[in-house]
Amino acid sequence: MNNEFALDVKKGLTAKNKYIPDRQYYDDRGSIYFQELMVNEYYYPTNSEYEIFENYKSEICKIFTYNNKKIQLIEFGAGDGYKTKILIKELIKLNSIFTYYPIDYSEKYLIELKSNFSKIFPELRLKYINKDYFAALKDFKNNNDNYRKIIFFIGSSFGGLTPDESNSFLDSLHKLISNDDMVLFGIDLKKSPTVLRKAYHETCKNWCFYLLNRINTELGGNINLNNFEYYTNYDPVTGEYKWYFLSKINQVINITKINLDVELEKWEPIYFSKSKKFSEKEIAEILDNHNFKIINQFFDKKNYFTNIIFTKK
Ligand SMILES: C[S@@+](CC[C@H](N)C(=O)[O-])C[C@H]1O[C@@H](n2cnc3c(N)ncnc32)[C@H](O)[C@@H]1O
Repeated sequence: MNNEFALDVKKGLTAKNKYIPDRQYYDDRGSIYFQELMVNEYYYPTNSEYEIFENYKSEICKIFTYNNKKIQLIEFGAGDGYKTKILIKELIKLNSIFTYYPIDYSEKYLIELKSNFSKIFPELRLKYINKDYFAALKDFKNNNDNYRKIIFFIGSSFGGLTPDESNSFLDSLHKLISNDDMVLFGIDLKKSPTVLRKAYHETCKNWCFYLLNRINTELGGNINLNNFEYYTNYDPVTGEYKWYFLSKINQVINITKINLDVELEKWEPIYFSKSKKFSEKEIAEILDNHNFKIINQFFDKKNYFTNIIFTKK
């Protein structure tokens, strides 16, 4: 039994408002669901960010490498590194990269990334870190070595954090970097709810059902998937797109391996995940409030997505 999964499920399903922690989305099979999502024609975030990197790679990497300083690249939630490759290639061309540290709690991704990158970039020094973002943040120190720290948090991962997690992440980043270091965020912008629904509703359904199924197969649950309705919605005020399962009946789920009976009332939700969309003004204010200053910002042609380079004020 996967203990972390068992603990997360127990914690989430015994909470007042029931939830499944979304870090559980990315087990071996979950990572494959994400890769399938990335190539779906309606899932715009990957294409938008890819387009930005392709169009502005030279400009972005010139900013990272001004003064010809060598770079230590640290990436939170690296996934399979599909888009990061574009910028690494450019940095290698500029002879600027020192070491690349991809961080992810999906080891499957990291192993794949390492094997793939070592073939295409044999000269790249790569040390992967298989940890949670917050644990990995403690592995790095704010020191004045002769390389520049460049931190990547792309793919709209910032929009998946809770407000407390975002504050803590930004505070830790602020402590970690010096004025000469830089951060690259990939931020999903507010847009038509129709575009969002096409990107996220049907496309994520099997992935979400898979997570419920995992409770049955790994933890001895007796969840009948027919007794749940998959529901997603977008709140244009908060900019949050959210995923839920709603219990269609009054029911008790039994999860034997964690010794848990979960009582659900008719139409009670189990919350799965969220992806927050920001206005340009909102994200600028968040960075400003955390004492960061924006160096430059890039957009895709449809204005769906933005990549922001910032540093400490
Ligand atoms: C939305 S995907 C983005 C992947 C990649 N950055 C991209 O843009 O395609 C999020 C990635 O972050 C990882 N991840 C999510 N939460 C994490 C956490 N708390 N700690 C470490 N990795 C995490 C997932 O395993 C997944 O690979």
